[in-house]
Amino acid sequence: MKKISKIAVRARLFWFVADPVQASGQAYRYIDDGLLHVEGGLVCAAGEASELLPQLANDVTLIDHRPHLVMPGFIDAHIHFPQTQVIASYGEQLLDWLQKYTFPAEMRYADPALAALQARFFVDTLLNHGTTTAVVYGSVHPQSAEAFFVESERANTRMIAGKVMMDRNAPDGLLDTAQRGYDESEALIGKWHRRGRQLYAITPRFAITSTVEQLQACGALVKAYPDCYMQTHISENLREIELAQSLFPAAADYTDIYDTYGLLGPRSLFGHCIHLSERELARFSETQSVAVFCPTSNLFIGSGLFDWAKVARKDRPVPIALATDVGGGTSYSMLQTAAEAYKVLQLQGQSLSALTAFYTMTLGNAKALQLQDKIGSFERGCEADFVVLDAHATPVMAHRMRCARDLLEELFILMTLGDDRAIAATYVMGERHVPMPAETAVSTGEAAIP
Ligand code: GUN
Ligand code: ZN
Repeated sequence: MKKISKIAVRARLFWFVADPVQASGQAYRYIDDGLLHVEGGLVCAAGEASELLPQLANDVTLIDHRPHLVMPGFIDAHIHFPQTQVIASYGEQLLDWLQKYTFPAEMRYADPALAALQARFFVDTLLNHGTTTAVVYGSVHPQSAEAFFVESERANTRMIAGKVMMDRNAPDGLLDTAQRGYDESEALIGKWHRRGRQLYAITPRFAITSTVEQLQACGALVKAYPDCYMQTHISENLREIELAQSLFPAAADYTDIYDTYGLLGPRSLFGHCIHLSERELARFSETQSVAVFCPTSNLFIGSGLFDWAKVARKDRPVPIALATDVGGGTSYSMLQTAAEAYKVLQLQGQSLSALTAFYTMTLGNAKALQLQDKIGSFERGCEADFVVLDAHATPVMAHRMRCARDLLEELFILMTLGDDRAIAATYVMGERHVPMPAETAVSTGEAAIP
């Protein structure tokens, strides 16, 4: 039985209560000398230390994280668990990158022992980067999703994941069939969806690797399990769009392919959304489907620039989430992801304020996942997943911080210069994460490069 801790963390506290773009009043709470009181893994109170300290019972352990900034754990809305050794693969755009690097790497996840080792590395790495919730793609093998959920359950993290469904246009070792993909997904849903903090996402990889029969099967799963999520990729790369349309000639456009099979909706997450037309964005808005912006991936694979202003347009808003997309993405850090998002928008004459960036990686992503009553803030009763941020973590950051004037500047420095070094600690349900010792890092039987 896990011990249920009673802790109170003294630090500078910061969390959002609303979207800074839409809020009429102040969108966030900032308490310079704050106390976060946690019992049974949930937030009891977040407020002024001077008010809360005198009320604390004797059995509450006081932890002092001053002068650091404590905020809700980061949420990564799209990442691939079997791509830990695909990250930083040279020289290709999407379709060739998949064939040359990604599919061979994912093939190895047929081995449950390898999947288990990799899952340990993956969850540990997310937490070391301050990410306490992620929406995760497995490989086609149900044992990959199984290994991931086992590890997430061990860490007690709130995660959303699914085995990928793909039944064409990939090597044999990576293919299921419409029926098998349905059955394996259903079995995983039965075992893992809403078990503790785990949640399931029905996960067709993208239209190119699914037959009509498989997308029909996905639609049937979504209908049978409306409480699950659905995640896939869309409109990332121009060659991909052309190929998808040639495989589904009856569809009006890429979005219409997924729409035809009932895959749009408020619990549906679509990675990339770079080249969507007005018609497609209107359908996203009508169905409140979520567009997931993956800036480091879009730059690294050379896919294009996500047009935030166009996607979020006030008269037909589409919900936006932010994500790393490792291994197409180049960092597990949501801070670095925000830094690259800022640059992607700069290239289009738009700006991403530090407030919007930090909102998006906490409460904004929680809302996109319809989990705002559980994660992403310090409201009473929320699950106490939080990060301790150190804006002085490196000499360059410390030097820059010497002339930072206020919280907004500190946040912008954190997102521009910060990464896992700026994460002084990560807590899951009020328990501090203990990073895996380096010497036990994954050995996956690969020969080391001399
Ligand atoms: N489209 C289909 N599969 C993938 C993937 O693994 N990564 C990215 N970035 N795009 C995809
Ligand atoms: Zn992806």
